[in-house]
Amino acid sequence: MRMRKKKNLERRMESCADLWIKDPAPQRGKWRELMPQAQGLRLELGCGKGRFTAETAAAHPEDLYVAVERVPDAMVIAMERCREKGLHNVFFIDGDAACLSDYFAPDEVDLLYINFCDPWPSVKHSRRRLTHENFLRGYRQVLRDGGQIHFKSDNRDLFEWSLFQFPKAGFELSEVTRNLHEHGICGIMTDYEEKFHNLGTPINRCVGTKVALPDVPVLEALRSRLPEWDIREVEEGDVAAVLALMEGNAAYYALQGQEQPTLRSIREDMASIPPRCIPAQKHYVGLWREGKLEAILDLVEGYPRERTLWIGFFMVEAGLHRQGLGRTVVEALPAAAADAGMDSLRLGCLKENEQGHQFWKTMGFQDLREGETLGGGSAVWIMEQLAEH
Ligand SMILES: C[S@@+](CC[C@H](N)C(=O)[O-])C[C@H]1O[C@@H](n2cnc3c(N)ncnc32)[C@H](O)[C@@H]1O
Repeated sequence: MRMRKKKNLERRMESCADLWIKDPAPQRGKWRELMPQAQGLRLELGCGKGRFTAETAAAHPEDLYVAVERVPDAMVIAMERCREKGLHNVFFIDGDAACLSDYFAPDEVDLLYINFCDPWPSVKHSRRRLTHENFLRGYRQVLRDGGQIHFKSDNRDLFEWSLFQFPKAGFELSEVTRNLHEHGICGIMTDYEEKFHNLGTPINRCVGTKVALPDVPVLEALRSRLPEWDIREVEEGDVAAVLALMEGNAAYYALQGQEQPTLRSIREDMASIPPRCIPAQKHYVGLWREGKLEAILDLVEGYPRERTLWIGFFMVEAGLHRQGLGRTVVEALPAAAADAGMDSLRLGCLKENEQGHQFWKTMGFQDLREGETLGGGSAVWIMEQLAEH
């Protein structure tokens, strides 16, 4: 948001001190103590200058409102508006929507408004959009079951893209409209909304209701492409079986100059995620047949690009080498990745691992460039293959 620098910002912020929660973390789980009679706790993310905040809080004195805004120059205007209206059911956090779970406890919030968030039109910035799946999964953590997100935008591309993000993060869509005010003004307008509406831009709106998370598409896709295996995420109770499989491949670790695996190193691998990713993107997967673990696959959806499936690790039980198992699994990956909405697969193969490099080449992966292992240090070939049906 562009704004002329406000004079005396600090003084103006301080004069709204009774609405401004300077340190929101201690308030986590206790927001209702600010208004014990409140029926619901409603959040607004990126409230800007706060026309919507002030008018909504005034229209619903039975609810408690908290507005989060990371630009103090805008937030101070929103606070002044609420103070002028004499509102006692609205509070402000000068913070980041990405940190909601630091400010609010699980299930504490009933409803969340996202109004006219910045569209970040370039694909490489899509993760900054407040309706990106990763943000939505963050909001889930503080929203109660059945809680809602009310989303409005003038930007049609952002809106259509967001309609795909909501279901992936476990939000059921309703009230989808691409022209909210077609038959007259509907609901309370925001500052941006009024501006765009006056310019004749149709306003898009939808509601997302928190439901169960969908099954992970990439696992579903793997199961349907490799029906001969029972495929599921490795759990704590499986770690010993994973270690046994890895110990059978001791030569692999020796060849690459890596330390032999331990229960601890496996748990660390299961928990480690690449930079800028969240745990939901990572799948440390086992392929079982008749109760026996036959292979391990470590996958990261959406890394390093939004529609790339990263293969972090693949290992087959030593007694099953040279029987075509590895080939069968890897041959299924491009189609499984495409089924799950990915357009490519990537991996990093240690340069010392000539046999592995040859295997991935035979399987259709091509060298993209030289790189380094995620932890830094060892040189790898970054290899890529397009996803395909
Ligand atoms: C385009 S303005 C819309 C303001 C207001 N909602 C409206 O409709 O008039 C987007 C606002 O979101 C704020 N914002 C963007 N990203 C944010 C984030 N991660 N956390 C909190 N606020 C954010 C910006 O500072 C800006 O004030």
